[in-house]
Amino acid sequence: MTHFPINKFKELRTPFYYYDMSLLQETVASAKSAISERPNYHIHYAVKANSNRPILNLMAKNGIGADCVSGGEVQAALDGGIPASQVVFAGVGKADWEIKLALEANISCFNVESVPELEVINTLAIEAGTEARVAFRINPEVDAHTHAKITTGQAENKFGIAIADMLPIFERASKLSHIKVMGLHFHIGSQILQMAPFEALAERVNQLQAQLEAAGHHVKTINVGGGLGIDYLHPQTNPIPDFKSYFDCFAATLRLREGQELHCELGRSMVGQSGYMVSSVLYLKKGVNRQFAILDAGFTELLRPALYGSVHVAQNLTSPQAPISTVDIVGPICESSDVFEKEAHLPLPQRGDLIVFNSAGAYGEIMASTYNCRQLPTAYYSDTIDTVETH
Ligand code: LLP
Repeated sequence: MTHFPINKFKELRTPFYYYDMSLLQETVASAKSAISERPNYHIHYAVKANSNRPILNLMAKNGIGADCVSGGEVQAALDGGIPASQVVFAGVGKADWEIKLALEANISCFNVESVPELEVINTLAIEAGTEARVAFRINPEVDAHTHAKITTGQAENKFGIAIADMLPIFERASKLSHIKVMGLHFHIGSQILQMAPFEALAERVNQLQAQLEAAGHHVKTINVGGGLGIDYLHPQTNPIPDFKSYFDCFAATLRLREGQELHCELGRSMVGQSGYMVSSVLYLKKGVNRQFAILDAGFTELLRPALYGSVHVAQNLTSPQAPISTVDIVGPICESSDVFEKEAHLPLPQRGDLIVFNSAGAYGEIMASTYNCRQLPTAYYSDTIDTVETH
């Protein structure tokens, strides 16, 4: 359970993000321990969840690779100390400069999503005088049973190559001089808490591998993407995701061939519970039949509730003993969607109280914006916060 340095928090300007680096290390250690007996399993951290330097440094120190979806992320991963040999680059729309940057860095693999992209990578690899290692992202048509906006593995999505086009792209690749096919890549969606969708994915991979082998193609890596969810409702009592069940599920269902590696791209499960968004109450406002706690943070700092209707448990850090009240927790942005939680139950907030939102480490700070000319939030880390100077 995270211990908040409240006195230090009081000196800092809100809103800001706070990262519990011990919890992060514990989480990463737990993920690593779940694969310790499986030397052919490799984790690539999905940088899109949070690309802050200290977080990438911690991943690098733990030998975790990086899954990137833009040139900026590839650069961030490299700058964060993750070796190019452990960087993969995915994304449905890679620009030429991004491909060149990744080729120059000699990253381990491009996850390719279409034939036109494959052709461009080949051309740029010829120009650069190098060989591009690629995996093909196949749309497995598996339903992740998660939020519609974060499900990706179904036919109507823009992502991946249709199953029917899998063999043709392997054929095409075999004719391209500067392409080396390494593997298959999949991703079915995010915030998945049941193992059934991962099992369904593993079964689909088994079928596809059989098809490929029948056509004479063999791959070295099977990348099953990310998607393992976290417990947004009980962040303090259940902070570490069930990595063991996740990996056991693939070990039980997915039939890897001799020498094959399993790669995964976990984002949310690695960092989600270690990050908090900290804000202050500006006003307690009475409305018609309801009251509003108006914070100095809004969807510019934490977008997920407005965008996906997600819940981030709010805690009143300053007055935990105040009587429990029902309030709408809202932000200052000029949009009616700027609501964190309607009819939340929490100790009655007063002006100046610190309100902490849990489970904000993944897709929190990284999705912040400057809408309304607001400043991007600052990040503080448990291991260095005591050295932060305040005025
Ligand atoms: N690999 C690929 C190809 C992905 O598209 C994603 C996430 C991941 C890995 C990492 O998935 P994770 O392990 O974090 O579930 N902004 C949304 C989440 C979008 C996820 C996009 N892709 C949210 O705040 O819930």
